[in-house]
Amino acid sequence: MRQDNLLTRCSRLALLACGALLIQAQLVLAAAIIEGERMHPVQGTRGMVVTSHFLATQSAQEVLKRGGNAIDAAVTAAFSLAVTQPRSGNIGGGGFMLISSEKKDEVVAIDYREKAPAKAYTEMFLDQDGHADNQLSRFSHQSAGVPGTVAGLALALEKYGTITLQEAMAPAIKLAEEGFIVTPRFSEGLKAKQKRLQQWDSSRKLFYKADGSFYEPGDLFVQQDLAATLKRISAQGPREFYTGRTAELLVAEMERHGGMITMEDMKNYQPAIRTPIHGSYRGYDIYSMSPPSSGGTHVVQILNILEGYPIADYGHNSARTIHLMAEAMKRAYADRSLYLGDEDFVQIPLKGLTSKAYAASLRETLNQEQATPSKTILPGTPVGYESNETTHFSITDQYGNAVSTTYTINFSYGSGIAVEGAGFLLNNEMDDFSAKPGSPNGYGLIGGKANKIEPNKRMLSSMSPTIVKDKGKNFLVTGSPGGSRIITTTLQVIMNVIDHGLNIQSAVAAPRVHHQWLPDEIRIEEGISPDTIAKLQQMGHAVQQKSSMGAIQSIMVKDGVMYGGADPRRSTGQAMGL
Ligand code: DON
Repeated sequence: MRQDNLLTRCSRLALLACGALLIQAQLVLAAAIIEGERMHPVQGTRGMVVTSHFLATQSAQEVLKRGGNAIDAAVTAAFSLAVTQPRSGNIGGGGFMLISSEKKDEVVAIDYREKAPAKAYTEMFLDQDGHADNQLSRFSHQSAGVPGTVAGLALALEKYGTITLQEAMAPAIKLAEEGFIVTPRFSEGLKAKQKRLQQWDSSRKLFYKADGSFYEPGDLFVQQDLAATLKRISAQGPREFYTGRTAELLVAEMERHGGMITMEDMKNYQPAIRTPIHGSYRGYDIYSMSPPSSGGTHVVQILNILEGYPIADYGHNSARTIHLMAEAMKRAYADRSLYLGDEDFVQIPLKGLTSKAYAASLRETLNQEQATPSKTILPGTPVGYESNETTHFSITDQYGNAVSTTYTINFSYGSGIAVEGAGFLLNNEMDDFSAKPGSPNGYGLIGGKANKIEPNKRMLSSMSPTIVKDKGKNFLVTGSPGGSRIITTTLQVIMNVIDHGLNIQSAVAAPRVHHQWLPDEIRIEEGISPDTIAKLQQMGHAVQQKSSMGAIQSIMVKDGVMYGGADPRRSTGQAMGL
C-alpha cells in the first residue's frame, strides 16, 4: 500500500516534471517566434506611404490606389500635412525632395529650401555689442526666409507627376475647410507653445478658441483662412502664392512688423533641380541631399569612415560601435562648420569630403579605444573642390519610383507668427545661417563664413532625405526631422539595416545616439544599457541621455515587397501599404 502510494506519487511527480518541461519548451518556442518576427513593418506590394500623420498617409494612399505615382502621392501628402500638422507641415517653409526612378535609372533632388530676402545682410542678427540676437533670428518677422514649399511641390508634380495640382490639393482643402478631429499630440503641442504663439493676434486666432481656451482631443479643428489660401493656389497655380493675393498678405504682414520679404523676393523665388550626393556603403548605393543641405555629404562621409571597421561583428549599439560612430560623427560635424553652405555662393570640397581616401585619412586620426576630445579636432583638409520641427515622409509605388522628402519651417511652429488672413505660419529658417562665426544656432551648430547671411542665399540645412539602392533597385527610402540630429538619425537607420540586419520597423525604433562635435558629448536616447554607458565613459566620452531624436519615416523594399516603418516617436505617424 505504502509502495503503491510511493509509485503514484513518483508518477505524479514525473507528470508534473514533464508538464513543466512542456510549458518551458512552449515558452522557448514562443520566444523564438517573437524573436524571429521581431517588430512588424507594414507590408505592401503595389505601394507604401509612411508619414508622421495618419490623415496625410490616408490622402496619399488614396492617390496610389487610383493609379497615381509616388510623386503624386508625395505632393498630396505634403499639402495634407500642411493642414493636419501645422507645427512642421507647411506652405510657409521649404525643403528637399529626392526622387528615384528605377526605369530611368536616375535619382534627382528638388531643392525648395527658403532663401534670404534681398535686403538681408551678414550682421542683421547682431546686437549693438556684436552678439548674436537669438530672439531676432528665431522669433521675429526677420527670421523668415522666402518660402519654397509651394514652388517645389508644384515643380515636382509638373516634371515627375501624373495628376494635376488641383487633384493633389483637394484632400488638403477638404481637411482645412471641413476640419479634422484634434489628436492628443495636436492639442499638447499648442498648449506647450502657447506663450510663443499667443503673442501674435494672427496665431492666437488661428490656433486657439475665441474665448482663448485650447482645442482639446476630440474637438473639430477648422482652418477657413488656410482653406481659402489653398483654394487660390489650386485654382490659379503656384504663382498665386508668389505674385497673387497670398504674396500680398505675406508682404503686408512683413511691412506691419519690420520683416524683410518683399513682393520682388516672392516673385523671384525659384526651386532648383540638383544632383544628389552619391556614395556607397558595403556595396549599396547611397543617394542623399546635396548642398544647401549638409545632410547627404555627412551621411556619406560618416559611412565612409565606418566602412573600414567590422561594425556587424562589433554589434548593434555596443560600446565599441557607439565609440566608432561618435568619433566619425565628430570629425564630420567639424568639417560641416567650416566648409558647408549654399553652393550657389561658396565652393565646397564635396568630392574630397565624400571620398573614400579622405575617410581613410580620418580613420588614421581615430583611436579605437579612446575618445579624441572635440577641442583637439579641427576641420580636416579634404582635397577636391567642385564647380549643400520638420517632417519627413517616404513613398514608393508600383512603377519603380521612390520619393523621400523632408520639409520644414525650422522650429516647432516655425517663428510662431501666422500670416494674418492667410492661415499659415512663417518659418524661422534664417536662424540656420551662422549669425556670427562660432556662435551656435538653435541646434547648437557652429558655422562660419561659408554659411554667413547673404542676400538671396539659401541657409545651410541638415535635412537628409535619402534613397539607398541595391544593384539599381530602390532598397531603402528614409529621412527624418531633428535639426542637427537628422544626419546621425538617418545614418543609424542605414546602418541598422545594412550592418545589423534589422527589419525596417526595428531599425526605425531602435534607440539612437548622436555626437555633433560641439558640445563634446554623446547624446543618447533611453534604451542604451548602463554597462555600455559605463564603458563609453571609461573610453573618455561624456554621455548624456536626453529626449528622443528624430522621427524617421522609412520604407525598405525587398524581393518585390515594400515594408513600411513609421517611427514610434510620433504618436500620429502611420505606414500604409497597398
Ligand atoms: O534645415 C535644417 O537643418 C533645420 N531647419 C531642420 C529643423 C528640424 O529638423 C526641426 N525638427 N525637429
